[in-house]
Amino acid sequence: MKIYIATDHAAFCIKEDVKKILTSLGNEVIDLGPTNDDRVDYPDFAHKLSVAVLEDSSSHGLLICGTGIGMSLSANKHIGIRAALCHDAYTAQMARAHNDANVLCFGQRVVGLGTIESICKAWCQTTFEGGRHADRVEKIEL
Ligand code: RB5
Repeated sequence: MKIYIATDHAAFCIKEDVKKILTSLGNEVIDLGPTNDDRVDYPDFAHKLSVAVLEDSSSHGLLICGTGIGMSLSANKHIGIRAALCHDAYTAQMARAHNDANVLCFGQRVVGLGTIESICKAWCQTTFEGGRHADRVEKIEL
């Protein structure tokens, strides 16, 4: 899977570790920034990544900020983006299986690297179940 990744300054410190995790799971990872830990505004990176994911419908996105909240709020402003703020493997698995989420978000200040690894594994190994869930996902957009 092709996965675009972006963070803000709060999560820059774990970006390389997360990229390694995603690559080791067989994904192609494309880094949309930032390139250093200077203070930035999370919506700028959430919007950049959302546009990239919408332009390539087979791709997914991963957004990380301090809590994951600002990134998920911003990404979900884009029609067609279903950004899920996940805290553990279970929420990541359900976000894919039931919500067909195409952008994963989590908080660097909330989850540690071990949990991040299990979140990424669950996300990459789970596919959308479709069926009744597809009808509900269609209803998300007004
Ligand atoms: C930055 O301090 C912090 O506000 C940001 O990373 C994020 O947690 C916002 O939702």
